[in-house]
Amino acid sequence: MSGGSRSCSRTFPLRGKMSADIPAAEGGRPVRERFLHFARPSICDGDVESVVQTLRSGWLTVGPQTREFERAVASYVGVPGAAAVHSCTAGLHLAMVALGVGSGDEVIVPALNFASAPNSVVHLGATPVLVDVDPKTLNVTAEIIESAITERTKVVIPVHFGGRPCLMDEIMEVGRRRGVKVLGDAAHAIGAHLGSRKVGSVADVTAFSFYVTKGMTTGEGGIVTSHDEDLLARIGRLSLHGMSSDAWKRYTERGPWYYEIVEPGYKYNMNDMQAALGLCQLERVDDFRESRTRIAARYEEAFSELPALTIPGRFDGGQHAWHLYQIQLDPDMLTIGRDAFIRAILDEGIGVSVHFIPIHYHPYYRDHFEYSTGSFPATETYYERALSLPIYPDMTDADIDDVIAAVVKLLRYYGR
Ligand SMILES: Cc1ncc(COP(=O)(O)O)c(C=O)c1O
Repeated sequence: MSGGSRSCSRTFPLRGKMSADIPAAEGGRPVRERFLHFARPSICDGDVESVVQTLRSGWLTVGPQTREFERAVASYVGVPGAAAVHSCTAGLHLAMVALGVGSGDEVIVPALNFASAPNSVVHLGATPVLVDVDPKTLNVTAEIIESAITERTKVVIPVHFGGRPCLMDEIMEVGRRRGVKVLGDAAHAIGAHLGSRKVGSVADVTAFSFYVTKGMTTGEGGIVTSHDEDLLARIGRLSLHGMSSDAWKRYTERGPWYYEIVEPGYKYNMNDMQAALGLCQLERVDDFRESRTRIAARYEEAFSELPALTIPGRFDGGQHAWHLYQIQLDPDMLTIGRDAFIRAILDEGIGVSVHFIPIHYHPYYRDHFEYSTGSFPATETYYERALSLPIYPDMTDADIDDVIAAVVKLLRYYGR
């Protein structure tokens, strides 16, 4: 085939424009040569030393570091106790077991969600009842929850999406009035506040994630907080096979060899290496959140006047944790769709992601439940338009500038 008109159309946009204005996807120069990862943990020498000391101590599994970490997180969140587990997913699962969720029950969960809560509901033989979110906040509201409650509803699991706290007082009021327990999914929300109260101190029970990308990390890990100490004791027991309490001590010189299984539990415990890292990270969790807040403010300043973008609203009722910074693209104002925009920004050297593919779009949920496209308009519209930008404490000012430059460059080039 002769090159002729094809090679012409490829080079045409370069006329009158600098190569730096042309997207790398169209043959221009990328904003960055070195790829900026979408997320990465902030690990200091103290974190490394803390884990190394634990390794040298010879005690690696659940033990004194884990118990200290539980006390430290409980005090940080403002609750009497906490149960450390292997992941937020494990925490959500165990909290539902402890709340008595079982066959025939319904559990309300947002469709704009990660798989953890809906999958755990399925594991318990209960039915996940999906609901839409408020398009402005991307959180569920008391009203949305109440409209989905039936006599079979046992638990509702609001997600503090992206680190923005749900309006928990209103949700708790509905829960109390309708006899439904509230289990907060605070995977994104360590360090977030509702007024002066921390997320994790308001719901009946709350699960946090310490996965590598989260507000602080233990590598993999999670914790459950509550004011109900009996519930926490049961969750702690269930996380270690359902053994009688403090069974881990049976390995110490003074501890007894004897243990009892008081109910069939799971192997979901945190270990002391994770907890040692967590103890060090917890000391910096407010600094991490402040760094994220500062990045969100820079993005807001740069993006608020761009008509093709919707940016996250501010949270005036306390403190946002800014785990995610999602932008939404207006398809009527751009010549490319969201997926092509993602490919183009990756070509600029900027890592991005999407949170989340709606639960009812996944094959298992599509095939086993009667939801379809159109069931959750706010969730679906958001999903079609959204991408999440990098936002983490170790980003430099130059990194933040590059993200802004890449977004602005692509919007200019592909704007209608
Ligand atoms: C909303 C939500 N819930 C739960 C989880 C699960 O966290 P973990 O990986 O600690 O199980 C995630 C993970 O990203 C999440 O986004």
